[in-house]
Amino acid sequence: MIPHIQGIILAAGKSKRFNTNTTKLVQPICGQPMILYTTKLLRHLSIPTTMVVGHQKETVCSVVQSEHNNEITFIEQNEMRGTGHALWTTKDIWDADTILVINGDAPLITESIIHDLRETHAKANATISFVTAHHTDPESSYGRVVEINNKINIVEARHFKGNITEHCCINAGIYLFNRDFLEKYIEKIKPAHDTFEWYITDLIGIASAQELPITMTKVPFDNVRGINTLQELWTTEQIKRAELIKHWMQNGVRFSAAHHVVIDINVIINPGTYIGSGVHLFGKTIIGNGATIKEFCSLTNTILADRVQIEPHCVLNNVHIEEDAKIGPFAHLHNNSHIQRNATIGNFVEIKATVFGQSSKAKHLTYLGDAIIESSVNIGAGTITCNHDGIKKNKTYIKKNAYIGSNNTLIAPIVIGENAFTAAGSTITKEVPADSLAIARAYQVNKNNYAAKYKSIKKEQNNKNEDLPIEITSTGSCEL
Ligand code: UD1
Ligand code: CA
Repeated sequence: MIPHIQGIILAAGKSKRFNTNTTKLVQPICGQPMILYTTKLLRHLSIPTTMVVGHQKETVCSVVQSEHNNEITFIEQNEMRGTGHALWTTKDIWDADTILVINGDAPLITESIIHDLRETHAKANATISFVTAHHTDPESSYGRVVEINNKINIVEARHFKGNITEHCCINAGIYLFNRDFLEKYIEKIKPAHDTFEWYITDLIGIASAQELPITMTKVPFDNVRGINTLQELWTTEQIKRAELIKHWMQNGVRFSAAHHVVIDINVIINPGTYIGSGVHLFGKTIIGNGATIKEFCSLTNTILADRVQIEPHCVLNNVHIEEDAKIGPFAHLHNNSHIQRNATIGNFVEIKATVFGQSSKAKHLTYLGDAIIESSVNIGAGTITCNHDGIKKNKTYIKKNAYIGSNNTLIAPIVIGENAFTAAGSTITKEVPADSLAIARAYQVNKNNYAAKYKSIKKEQNNKNEDLPIEITSTGSCEL
């Protein structure tokens, strides 16, 4: 029978080898803090879990609590005196017969590893079972499994002097212990002679010396990579990302250059979609069927419906785009903007907190902020909604089928009525009634023969070796 177990995650370490002064455990891997990979796995397996925290405990606890509320309990390790000491600090809460201990810095562990470990442990009626992997890099910092005369010991990398190909297995930092054994022997761990830390791994040597049954579950090294350095973080993230991309490829997503794409773990992509080179998909982005996202676009917490087409170099943050809309190139959409079906947003257009209606178009060089734009509206090039009056944001409301001429300044709050027109170059300050045309620009004055008069003034000034009159230099024109 598979025993009832409780889980302990070791997450109090100082992350010294990271050299960033911040705990490595909350660093994101494909958009998810490292520690949440392990906590989610244990929660998924319904294993009651306690986490040992210490270094930057507030940061670690708040990340874990924001995901799990109060499902995970915390115990503080006041002084970080090694993994054995971390486990010892939890002794008062041990209540299951079997205790699962996992390092918090190995995010790629899978459900099947824990399952196999539990099964082997139960079958062999073992005292300790732990996970190992084949790894012969002499520069790595893993503890090595050394078996001599049927005695098993874990020798930490810095103490290991043997032949690495002979002792080719590393300790993965995932253990099942019988509680009785732990209660009896946890205090028998002696501090290491150089670091004075208590090593959890010494428990394996202790059990082996007593000839107590120990089992090992060997798994692929990539699944148990521990992260101690920024380089190991990078490597692990590549593996996770490759796994995600493979998954989406198997689900019918075409990547033009998969090695140049960044995808977070919570992104969802539907079949028939094309993802170009350099595309970054962050957060809870969801992409519909048959969408196209061309080169160098960044999408964060964005929803694209079916067949949406995003041209290169667009930045979309927290927006919802409905079916068949076309965006970009070089568009910036953000702050809860909602682009409705079949709309077109062209190049150098910024849209903020705006509803942009079905089949409406804003094809060039425009800022639309805090606006409600109904269907079939045309926004001319260079249109700006002046939404901020220096104190607060104001709304622009453009009704169905309105036509905004090029280079319009719409001073909000403002309403442009249904079927209304605004002339190019207008500064619109008051409501435009439905079906009417608003012209709000200065009348043009033409000064005949201006060029000749200008030349003669310039010549006169040059002869006198004087500066040009202020009207010419400052305005580019002069009253003549
Ligand atoms: C540890 C193992 C090593 C194994 C490797 C697998 C020991 C002594 N060595 O080495 O055999 O191959 O993991 O990745 O256990 N922690 C605490 N309190 C402490 C110290 C550490 O909670 O006082 C936590 C860390 O936050 C980390 C985990 O324990 O999540 C492992 O500690 P780390 O220092 O990374 O151990 P390694 O040197 O990698
Ligand atoms: Ca480690």
